[in-house]
Amino acid sequence: MPVTIAQLQKWKHQKKPIAALTATDYAIGKLLDKAGIDLILVGDSLAMVALGYKNTLPVTLDDMIRHAQAVGRGISNALLIVDLPFLSYQVSPEQAIQSAGRIFKETEAKGIKLEGGYPEMINTIHKIIQAGMPVMGHLGLTPQSVHRIGYRVQGTTTDAADLIIHQAKELVEAGIFALLLENIPAELAAKITELVPVPTIGIGAGKSCDGQILVTHDVLGLSDWQPPFAHKYIDLSSVITEAVQQYCQDVRQI
Ligand code: KIV
Ligand code: NA
Repeated sequence: MPVTIAQLQKWKHQKKPIAALTATDYAIGKLLDKAGIDLILVGDSLAMVALGYKNTLPVTLDDMIRHAQAVGRGISNALLIVDLPFLSYQVSPEQAIQSAGRIFKETEAKGIKLEGGYPEMINTIHKIIQAGMPVMGHLGLTPQSVHRIGYRVQGTTTDAADLIIHQAKELVEAGIFALLLENIPAELAAKITELVPVPTIGIGAGKSCDGQILVTHDVLGLSDWQPPFAHKYIDLSSVITEAVQQYCQDVRQI
């Protein structure tokens, strides 16, 4: 049975942790799905891990759609969620509805995710949801704002933590179906998880979230760099390098 948004909500109440990972292409999407992952995010981190950019800013809506289509062709069970990339939704609610709409028209996505919780974004998210499209919120470290906030833990002062709690409540009011919490103190994530009725999915946000997500390239040892909280379950870089060296040797010995 394919995972649904309603299922995620049920799991929160049953305290069954949600296992989520990112995917960028057909082959990996298919493997994650087969291995039993609950939720697959086509995240805009594909800018770095699949396209070789330095941050998430350059990736386009067309890029996201192309990768989401590929991942979608590989999965039959996991819930597919797709990120809206930088500047495809910040300009106006109208722009955001158009961009979100393209994801639902052109891919198999069941929901979209976008970053932020300021009043303008709450309004935008509310309008996307009113147009019929499920939205996952994203608070804490929001990488599309890297030039303003940097890559560091967010919500470390009382004021900053209170702001994130406030924004989480506003996002819930706007109608989000889940909330991604990135790089915030574990105690703050635990507090938000208790406060909000929707599932929280954490990355670098401690163990108390309703689910966990990591970037698959980090988990498999395929990224140039990875954050300290991203556990490397296998070093595929070495595995691949050795296999290719062996292949080169075999070919040159013929
Ligand atoms: O793009 C991404 O990989 C994300 C992470 C927070 C999972 O949004
Ligand atoms: Na992202």
